[in-house]
Amino acid sequence: MKTKHGWCLRVLVILSLFFVQYVYSASNITIKGTEFVDDVGRIVVLRGLNLPINAKMAPFTPLNDKKSLSRLQTLPLYGTSIARVLFTWEAFEPERGQYNMDYLNYYLTLVETLYSQGILTMVDMHQDFYSRWLNLGCGEGFPRWAILVDPILQKNPFNGPRCVAWILQGPFDVAGKLNWKLFYAGENGVRDRFLDMWEYLAKTFADNPAVIGYDILNEPYGDEVSEIGPLYEDAAKRIRKHDQKAILFIEPQIYKGAGSKTNLPQPTFDNYAVAFHYYGQTRDPHKIIVSSFEEALTIWTNQTEAWDVPMFFGEFGANTDKNPDNDDFQAPNYISMFYDELDARLLGGTQWGWTDDYNDRTRDGWNNENFSIVDARRNLRSNFAVRPYPKAIAGIPGQFKVDSIEKVMELSWEVTAATLAAGAASGGRGATTVLFAPVQGFFAVPHANQLDIQVTPATGLTCSYSADWLTFSCLASQAGGYTLVIQPQQIA
Ligand SMILES: *[C@@H]1O[C@H](CO)[C@@H](O)[C@H](O)[C@H]1NC(C)=O
Ligand SMILES: *[C@@H]1O[C@H](CO)[C@@H](O)[C@H](O)[C@H]1NC(C)=O
Ligand SMILES: *[C@@H]1O[C@H](CO)[C@@H](O)[C@H](O)[C@H]1NC(C)=O
Repeated sequence: MKTKHGWCLRVLVILSLFFVQYVYSASNITIKGTEFVDDVGRIVVLRGLNLPINAKMAPFTPLNDKKSLSRLQTLPLYGTSIARVLFTWEAFEPERGQYNMDYLNYYLTLVETLYSQGILTMVDMHQDFYSRWLNLGCGEGFPRWAILVDPILQKNPFNGPRCVAWILQGPFDVAGKLNWKLFYAGENGVRDRFLDMWEYLAKTFADNPAVIGYDILNEPYGDEVSEIGPLYEDAAKRIRKHDQKAILFIEPQIYKGAGSKTNLPQPTFDNYAVAFHYYGQTRDPHKIIVSSFEEALTIWTNQTEAWDVPMFFGEFGANTDKNPDNDDFQAPNYISMFYDELDARLLGGTQWGWTDDYNDRTRDGWNNENFSIVDARRNLRSNFAVRPYPKAIAGIPGQFKVDSIEKVMELSWEVTAATLAAGAASGGRGATTVLFAPVQGFFAVPHANQLDIQVTPATGLTCSYSADWLTFSCLASQAGGYTLVIQPQQIA
């Protein structure tokens, strides 16, 4: 049957017969220019979640038994292919010079469980304003022995409701700011202990197929040129002693997340991506302190393009259903806008986040934050929507867009002679484009055979669906431009 869009193909639901293995190991993926690419040259888009975001508080190990780990089995249904997994220095080195192997083993089990669900891990050295004894008892991350200011300037950890404005109070916390200065200056060898830890972790994870890379320091405070940049250089040297392949994720200074240009010096190391954070949902449209996401992207893309490296969104999210100022900032609209922008540029990212034991009282379990994508019954909240996206594109990407109202997804790309050659050399893999296509979660039909799949042109592409991984895999046998449109069948 010929439709006005081209030929309508009924794609058979072929389960294990045509099963195309798409689960990546870390060593499949590297960086090439501004893209993440796999070992057969396909462009890879990594999407997922920060988790478990309730790991910021002692005992730091929320997913510590079979039952809680088994809950990670729902993540593939959301399309999670990467997790930014919080790692806490205070948990790992509670006493100076003594690593807590129980914590490391906990972390390794978590990483392995995620990998069994097809999810790669980015190790996230998490902290917020250094330590829970700083930022008026609202920080977290570094152990108490690493604090460099007098105990009289410290506060008992609080991390409760009166910490809601923690991000704004940070720069006014004189003790905290002084402490960062002393840390970067190498006072008492604490900076060296930080680097020792990275070296140890790189040795630990170097051959772990589940670990794609390291986020050296979450939302760092300090001067990008004289403090943060040099720390990244030193950490990279330690990491590269043991691990050449891991992708390093570097973050601008925390307040650049409002959408301003970073002054980070261009790194001398390679195989890295710049990992931005952006939270713009609650900005007041009349007193703009945070740029729109589109503006922020313009500024940041300019920088990553100048360095010829990929950008990745390590954090973003929505913390409330409603924004009284503007309908566009209601959680579902805001989140959908955010992913639309990522889609238009084929960018990856990890949303903040997945709270394993969300409840209305403690919420995300830290500073009264409310970003969890699941509620107390672990049902998805309004700040997350399951959406299709291309996991691997074999060829030169054209346009990708998702219409979440009409439930239509469209991808165009160009298959070249090089694509076909890569395919021929890899049993078809290099010429196979893979899409996450959540039949129930997005298209809202029970089975893949109730989807209308239009391929233009009608020949040259063979698609099959994996019900296990909710993916369409389309193998190209002819060069040329292709367009794939997927939507629910219209019942005439
Ligand atoms: C990753 O690389 C291995 C070895 O080359 C390969 O067998 C596997 O299929 C690759 N995975 C994907 C998803 O392409
Ligand atoms: C983009 O970067 C160039 C230098 O690399 C600079 O001159 C230009 O102003 C930048 N544009 C924006 C929008 O930031
Ligand atoms: C927390 O988030 C949920 C889901 O977005 C929302 O229903 C609730 O109103 C939020 N609470 C506050 C205080 O914003």
